[in-house]
Amino acid sequence: MLHDGRIIEKPYKGDVQVMKTERQLGRLIKAPENFLVPEDAKSPEVMRRKFLAAGVATAGLGLAGAARASSNPVSGQGDPNILNLPEHTTGLGMPVAATGYGLPSQYEKGLQRRESPGLTRVSAASVAFTPLQGTFGIITPSGLHFERHHQGWWDIDPSKHRLMINGLVRNQKVYTMDDLMRLPSVSRIHFIECGANTAMEWGNVAVPTVQYTHGMVSCSEFTGVPLSVLLEDCGYDKKNGRFVLAEGADGSSMTRTIPMSLALDDVMVAYGMNGEMLRPENGYPLRLVVPGVQGVSWVKWLRRIEVGDQKWATKDEAIHYIDLMPDGMHRQYTGMQEAKSVITTPSAGQLLLDKGFYNVSGLAWSGRGKIRRVDVSVDGGKNWRTARLESPVLTKAFTRFNIDWTWSGAPAILQSRAIDDTGYVQPTVHQLREVRGTRSIYHNNMIQSWRIADTGEVSNVQVS
Ligand code: MTE
Repeated sequence: MLHDGRIIEKPYKGDVQVMKTERQLGRLIKAPENFLVPEDAKSPEVMRRKFLAAGVATAGLGLAGAARASSNPVSGQGDPNILNLPEHTTGLGMPVAATGYGLPSQYEKGLQRRESPGLTRVSAASVAFTPLQGTFGIITPSGLHFERHHQGWWDIDPSKHRLMINGLVRNQKVYTMDDLMRLPSVSRIHFIECGANTAMEWGNVAVPTVQYTHGMVSCSEFTGVPLSVLLEDCGYDKKNGRFVLAEGADGSSMTRTIPMSLALDDVMVAYGMNGEMLRPENGYPLRLVVPGVQGVSWVKWLRRIEVGDQKWATKDEAIHYIDLMPDGMHRQYTGMQEAKSVITTPSAGQLLLDKGFYNVSGLAWSGRGKIRRVDVSVDGGKNWRTARLESPVLTKAFTRFNIDWTWSGAPAILQSRAIDDTGYVQPTVHQLREVRGTRSIYHNNMIQSWRIADTGEVSNVQVS
């Protein structure tokens, strides 16, 4: 481990389990908000008895017997869901454009971004977490993108919105939305993670599901104008202009310093998200996109960019968004989001109904570039296997990983460990605490552990 808490990869020689071709498929109760067959929604104790009974009944029968204990209703009278023709097969369906803006199925309405009860005193200065356990691939649906506001959100009239660029520039300018949307645009997929993601877990296990441990991160395709284009347009001072200040139009006086090197690199003044205009909660009509850097710098409802020759040390840089170190000192301007990963399924709050095959799936991301590798352990970090990275693997974006796992029914501890293309390895909780202590709020990227009990219950635990 390096002095600054970063860990460099050592080649790993772990055991590699060979995937069996014949599998009993395990079934899983998703997090509580997902749809359930009523029978499956029983308490873990009932499920456990059912599970044990099935194990006894199928002992010695091999896979064919085990399959009968699974959810496939292949025996007896046949499945009424197949045999009885439903109305949707015999009747006329809904007309086109019944909903001018499409919505998810009524059966998916439990999947919501949610506030963590008691986290803040008022909901206007709070967080709604993305339900990572229920999303697929790498794009977060816009309606499930996490929200973090310091002073509530607004639906601002774009015809009245302005972006001013001032400070160390030859020509101070004010742009309308129309001006901005005529300029050359770029579209890129990036994650945004609040620096406070996983903040509640610094000292001990605190929250029950991946939605609350890790849901202050989302990943979208953003469209907008590179900030470099606007800075050039205004003739920024190339000698003395070393920083820019971004300012939001809401009442929180959100102002953040961005080094000029980043501003000229991949920072974007964005109006688009996932193929449409930004959602109001995410900064409509204009926000800053600062790839790799903590969410607070992604100023929403962006109204002003000032070019300056030194950092501003604003309230959100001097008293908030600083890291309390074990010696009592604070670290300032630590915006980079280091490599991190989490298994999203199976994850805490879910319930494994059968032993057998499971697709273990999760997300990995790094503020410094691409994910090179993700290792997965099912025994609390003793042995690791390398997961499959699904394409695309993009820089400063979510990478989806998957790995096969056959659950024997014995207790297990699932972990994932991300390695990015700088060689940085996601630290264990113990390694992170050694450097950072336990009293921080921001930048907790420890390896997450999910314990699977023999009942199939999955819970949040911390192991070193
Ligand atoms: N910008 C303004 N103007 N006001 C805010 O309250 N919150 C910041 C940042 N930009 C904020 C803001 C914080 S702390 C985060 S983590 C991200 O926006 C959250 O972006 P999101 O709500 O689109 O997920």
